[in-house]
Amino acid sequence: MLAIIGGSGLAKLPVLEVTHRQVVRTPYGDPSCALTFGHLGQQNVVFIARHGHGHSLAPHEINYRANIWALHNQGVKGILSIGSVGGIRADMGPGTLVVPDNIIDYSWGRKHTFFDGPERPVVHVDFSNPYDDGLRSRVIAAVDAAGKQAVSQGIYACTQGPRLETAAEILRLERDGADIVGMTGMPEACLAREMNLPYAHLCLVVNWAAGKGGSATVDFDPATAEAGMNDVTAVLQAMLS
Ligand code: HPA
Repeated sequence: MLAIIGGSGLAKLPVLEVTHRQVVRTPYGDPSCALTFGHLGQQNVVFIARHGHGHSLAPHEINYRANIWALHNQGVKGILSIGSVGGIRADMGPGTLVVPDNIIDYSWGRKHTFFDGPERPVVHVDFSNPYDDGLRSRVIAAVDAAGKQAVSQGIYACTQGPRLETAAEILRLERDGADIVGMTGMPEACLAREMNLPYAHLCLVVNWAAGKGGSATVDFDPATAEAGMNDVTAVLQAMLS
């Protein structure tokens, strides 16, 4: 069974034929919301809305450990994470789908490991390639099968939020090599790695990052975001048909 973590703009998955919902408690506290189980195409899927129902959780308030633990506990074989991002690179404007292949983490103060405390001695997982190649390839093939287009590589910068970045910060991220910027890709990806769960990220650019095309908020166009999320849904359907 594949897990899908839905981000902003994808708090529900209308194409999912829901069978049941389950509230899960974890040793790390409560996940963002109940897990939703169902079928998408031929496959069983479990879905969780990262920001909770009604988008009540800011990026730094999300209990990433509880979310990943809950999905792992259901025996999922992989996690496809959906995220909204700002575009930094010139060919990554609003409406673009990106399947990033690496991460730079600028977030701080988040619980970012399962291995802490006396009973869980430190483990240094290999995170050179944070995303799973097999799952990334499946997403990229599904983009094709759905008749959509995506940029199939890119570096995802994870900022702390909830505020958007300054233009100077985006220039710094760009100098660091980042192509897109979001607030929730970490520690989600490294917690999945700690659980040995294949993890890939499908990102939708919803605005130009600060200083790249006007103002990131003024620039945000709900119609573009909605059309983009329809593309994301089409990709999910193609992937799981
Ligand atoms: N910055 C950070 N996170 C985001 C942005 C942005 O411009 N757009 C969507 N998520």
